[in-house]
Amino acid sequence: MNTSTSSSAAARGLPRIAVLATGGTIAGSAADAANTAGYQAGVIGVAQLLAAVPGLDAIAQIHAEQVASIDSKDMSLALWTTLAQRVNDVLASDEIDGVVITHGTDTLEETAYLLHLTVKSAKPCILTAAMRPATALSADGPLNLLNAVTLAASEAATGQGVLVAFNNRIHCARDVAKISTYAVDAFQSPEIGALGWVQDGRVEFQRRALRPHTVDAPFSATAQWPQVEIVTSYAGVSRAAVEALVAAGVDGFVVAGTGNGSIHAGLQQSLAEAAARGVAVVRASRVGSGHVMHNGAAKDDALGFVSAGSLSPYKARVLLLLALAAGAVDKEALQNAFDTY
Ligand code: SIN
Repeated sequence: MNTSTSSSAAARGLPRIAVLATGGTIAGSAADAANTAGYQAGVIGVAQLLAAVPGLDAIAQIHAEQVASIDSKDMSLALWTTLAQRVNDVLASDEIDGVVITHGTDTLEETAYLLHLTVKSAKPCILTAAMRPATALSADGPLNLLNAVTLAASEAATGQGVLVAFNNRIHCARDVAKISTYAVDAFQSPEIGALGWVQDGRVEFQRRALRPHTVDAPFSATAQWPQVEIVTSYAGVSRAAVEALVAAGVDGFVVAGTGNGSIHAGLQQSLAEAAARGVAVVRASRVGSGHVMHNGAAKDDALGFVSAGSLSPYKARVLLLLALAAGAVDKEALQNAFDTY
């Protein structure tokens, strides 16, 4: 691990925070400062990211590490496993009090939820990101990073699961979603709202996440992931994608259904046939807010489906990957996982 803390920060006994960098726009570089859309993500190293944040030394002793340098649209299951392993190893050390992960915004919500269920520590674990590259006028990365380190160094973040610090707000990994393509205020927790805020060195929580996570979740990232794909229901959708994936040996589907998770009749039939062949089928909604009720308008039990509750299709896929990897094969065990986590 590279150490970038100053000896004065160490001497003052400040919390020891590991910053694990993975790339993203926060580490993006453009040809000129006015360019906030045409840039390359994940090219600036962690030492340079930290150097752009004044005052870090007064908050924490920083231990910096470059885990990856990617545009998060290219996040892979293998890198998830590497990252989860690294976070677990770092947090298990007596020399580290919390972790900050810098990440691209595009798949941040998926990685955050994966870590929420696979990190086995109560120590603070915070993800942050940026909508503007590091080279931009009014880049948002440095303040987001400062706030993330402030949160990771705070006692109040202990035992709260994996959190996202973005634009002064603190979000629960389970709830947070990217809701804008370019706006600096790009993350919200739809329906439920943020857990609190971090601003000018002050951390304030208004509520806690109720569902079990981290040390209370029985999941772990694995080297042998099942294959789980997302299919969407829309006007005129065909059965072709489902049939091709079943023929290719897919282990599970998440359906981004219309409205309250309803599915076009033809697609529903092909998914019911897949479920009858042992493929897991989880019904979620493409709407972006609200929940999908088990046996609501759809006859989940008759069709062999599981319902995702309030998880988005992308997060439902994360949970289905983890539940299948943990050996939850029958419908009841899977529904129990969705009702619990
Ligand atoms: C990425 O997700 O790596 C690129 C986009 C971003 O971070 O905003």
